[in-house]
Amino acid sequence: MKKTRILATIALMLVLAVAFAAAGCAGSKDVVMGTSSGFEPFEFVDADQKVIGIDVDIANLIAKEAGKDLKVEDMNFDSLIAAVQSGKIDFVAAGMTANDERRQNVDFSDTYFDASQVIIVKEGSAIKTAADLVGKKIAVQQGTTGADLAGEIEGATLDNLTKVADCVTELLQDKVDAVVIDSYPAQKSVEKNAGLVILSEPLSVEQYAIAVKKGNTDLLAKINKVIAAIKADGTLDAIIAKYSSES
Ligand code: ARG
Repeated sequence: MKKTRILATIALMLVLAVAFAAAGCAGSKDVVMGTSSGFEPFEFVDADQKVIGIDVDIANLIAKEAGKDLKVEDMNFDSLIAAVQSGKIDFVAAGMTANDERRQNVDFSDTYFDASQVIIVKEGSAIKTAADLVGKKIAVQQGTTGADLAGEIEGATLDNLTKVADCVTELLQDKVDAVVIDSYPAQKSVEKNAGLVILSEPLSVEQYAIAVKKGNTDLLAKINKVIAAIKADGTLDAIIAKYSSES
């Protein structure tokens, strides 16, 4: 009798241990955002080395909707898709353009920002339009749509770099003739560095969305709910405005 009770207790403890472990996996208290800082105003590092920006603010609202704490994983942009596929991160919020190529590997939320790829050159450059980029040296951020577009330019040589700031530095040092990057980070770079201009004609028009692992419909529904709500009540505009004035 006593022995049976002990055995029953052990069995119960084992069942509970397994149940807690399972809950720990499925119901972790963190939701992990993957991003790639150095892309102001969407994600950049503040004086305390904390990643802040438009995407982080949106991600915080997603975490709240999911009833979890937000954890931010900062990595190279071209590692993000693999990280969400492997489950290292739960979603990508990185000013990522939703496109069909990426849709083969991840699911995208509704879009939250209209962007474009622009050309930055030095003031007084002979490059006035995209057509003038033929045969030129162009710095791009590795793995981005800007890199893809620049790669299609006839005879152009690409310098694939990990950060936007590195692209801008190469241009300032005349190591390249132009930089092809997203419009808003381009604007921030030009504000911070004298002698640079953005050509008026964009190379492409794109939309940013948040990416999740294929089939993660539960999280995707929560993300879309947040995006719809913040678009409708003006919160998204307020978040964007907050980082336009800040620098
Ligand atoms: N929108 C571009 C793309 O999706 C560039 C995004 C770069 N983002 C970043 N956080 N560095 O390819």
